[in-house]
Amino acid sequence: MPEPFYITTPIYYVNARPHLGHAYTTVVADVLNRFHQMLGQESYFLTGTDEHGDKVVRAAKEEGLSPLAYVDQISELFKALWPELDVAYDCFIRTTDPAHIKVVREILQKIYDAGDIYFSEYEGAYCFGCERFYTERELVDGRCPDHKTIPEVIRESNYFFRMSRYQDWLIEYMETHPDFIRPERYRNEVLAFLREPLEDLCISRPKTRLQWGITLPFDEQYVTYVWFDALLNYVSALGYPDGEPFKKFWPTVQHLIAKDILKPHGIYWPIMLKAAGIPLYRHLNVHGYWNVDESKMSKSLGNVVDPLELKNIYGSDAFRYFLMREMVFGLDSNFSEEALIQRFNSDLANDLGNLFSRSLTMVHKYFKGIVPQEGAGTESELNLGLKADAEKAVEDYQRAMEDLAFHKALAAVWEFINRINKYIDVTAPWELAKRKSQHQQLQKVLYNILEGLRIIAGLIYPMMPRAARLMQAHLELPSGDAFQKLEDLKVWGRTIPGTKLPKTVTLFPRIVLDEPGNRARETVKPAGTSPAAKPEISMKVFEQMDLRVATVLHAEPVPRSQKLLKLKVDVGEERTIVAGIAESYQPEDLIGKQVVIVANLKPAKLMGILSRGMALTAADKDTCRLITVDGPCEPGTPLT
Ligand code: MSP
Repeated sequence: MPEPFYITTPIYYVNARPHLGHAYTTVVADVLNRFHQMLGQESYFLTGTDEHGDKVVRAAKEEGLSPLAYVDQISELFKALWPELDVAYDCFIRTTDPAHIKVVREILQKIYDAGDIYFSEYEGAYCFGCERFYTERELVDGRCPDHKTIPEVIRESNYFFRMSRYQDWLIEYMETHPDFIRPERYRNEVLAFLREPLEDLCISRPKTRLQWGITLPFDEQYVTYVWFDALLNYVSALGYPDGEPFKKFWPTVQHLIAKDILKPHGIYWPIMLKAAGIPLYRHLNVHGYWNVDESKMSKSLGNVVDPLELKNIYGSDAFRYFLMREMVFGLDSNFSEEALIQRFNSDLANDLGNLFSRSLTMVHKYFKGIVPQEGAGTESELNLGLKADAEKAVEDYQRAMEDLAFHKALAAVWEFINRINKYIDVTAPWELAKRKSQHQQLQKVLYNILEGLRIIAGLIYPMMPRAARLMQAHLELPSGDAFQKLEDLKVWGRTIPGTKLPKTVTLFPRIVLDEPGNRARETVKPAGTSPAAKPEISMKVFEQMDLRVATVLHAEPVPRSQKLLKLKVDVGEERTIVAGIAESYQPEDLIGKQVVIVANLKPAKLMGILSRGMALTAADKDTCRLITVDGPCEPGTPLT
């Protein structure tokens, strides 16, 4: 029985919407998870959100919401994004979950009882952005290296975790476990850091300054430092200490992070585990950063890439493929939509898509869609080494996947795809089809091509589960559209002769830009990317909605918001409504317009303004259009 596999992503802060960086780590976790399932391992995949701390309180305040209402809202955005990107996690943890809070308090108490937490006064430079004290040595020209702000000097009594006690132990552990942190460059970074004396970690915040956190079990006046709380998600999610998942999966745990949070994961976390008497993680896998158009992604530069928007244009498979093909795990990479389109057209539409559709078309043309016999003889003279190349592709792929070299794994698959494309050119089935005497050869050639496609469908599954399933469904494999095990891909000849195949399908419709430089989002609508249909509802449920005609009396922009307009409407009575239409309408154009509103929607505060109802719109990627009535109507008229 192969051993289980447990993979985690960082739990993301809820002070920002999900972006490309979050999507990358989470897609890598999903790819690894699916790959290990292909190896026959039982797997567990954890992701979630990090919801306590100063940052969140400040972000909530800016939105005019309570911390809890705010974290519920943003956490939901993360949760809703993952299925859109075909990320299939097993558990989504939130640090506000009561079960997590309980574990954090238990572990704190355990470490406190063991004497590794002490109380002391401390004065230091505190960066509110990072929620931590900085030593002089860590500051760059007296500023926070991340936020470039001058930290405030704060004097406080706090609880400290005796990390210094564990410094020598950690160095030794890392020296005897060379792949504890990988790739090596990040291991070296942590070791370099450990060459300097390690300071104890301040793990509390007085409630006079911050209430939004987990109260320390041994002092009601303090909450837990957000990192100490967050890191413990990796064990609390498994039901530490007695849960079955903890017993089964924890010993095999691998974490996935980017370089920005190397220190908490490479230093605090192993020491916390050691102090709590929990076995250490097996690997910390660290990747680089995505930059966008050669600059750091940031809100202020306005270049934050929205993964959902890309998925809606190019489909989740192509987005995932691009991320995996383009970044060398461990190094920084550059994102550009042009590069994505380029890869889409050349690798997906041309190489793979064309191969697939031309092959199936030939099976239909020459064999009425029925998989031909493999042909007499074992190693057919018309195999031309294809079988050996398939074996090599699977081998190279497996090695690369185990090394987290996803770009190399895909390169191995594409080498094989191009190999089959050449095989078709060399064997020229259209020539064989001209002569009856070559019917057997034609059978063999097409069988070999189909078998090659089966292996390709299996190999791309972790990165492109949709295309893999679609290919498998069109190859009518015995495995159906379930994924194939890697072992199945190492055996040649699993395609079953005599199977009737469905008509061919376009896996990746080519992206045609009508004008050079025009972004695909204006011209492309790949098949199957419209939002999924919602479940059926009864008339009774529908009738609960109070839809009414409303006349706009007044409209004005909402300060500090690009999207929102504040409307005063007449719906039989006067009401204020906040609508996200500022990018498509000027306030003055709205006066007198009759719109349709959901009149009985629970009032909600948006940017501090109470909105009593919602104006209906039809929105696509770029514009949104208000729903109006076909002629003048009495304000307040209900829709039936
Ligand atoms: N909440 C902490 C993590 C606690 S884990 C116990 C946190 N959250 S975060 O929202 O800031 O997420 C950081 C992580 O998001 C990175 O480690 C990485 O996984 C991902 N990325 C954020 N920006 C990124 C890039 N530009 N490029 C690649 N990944 C990045 O830190």
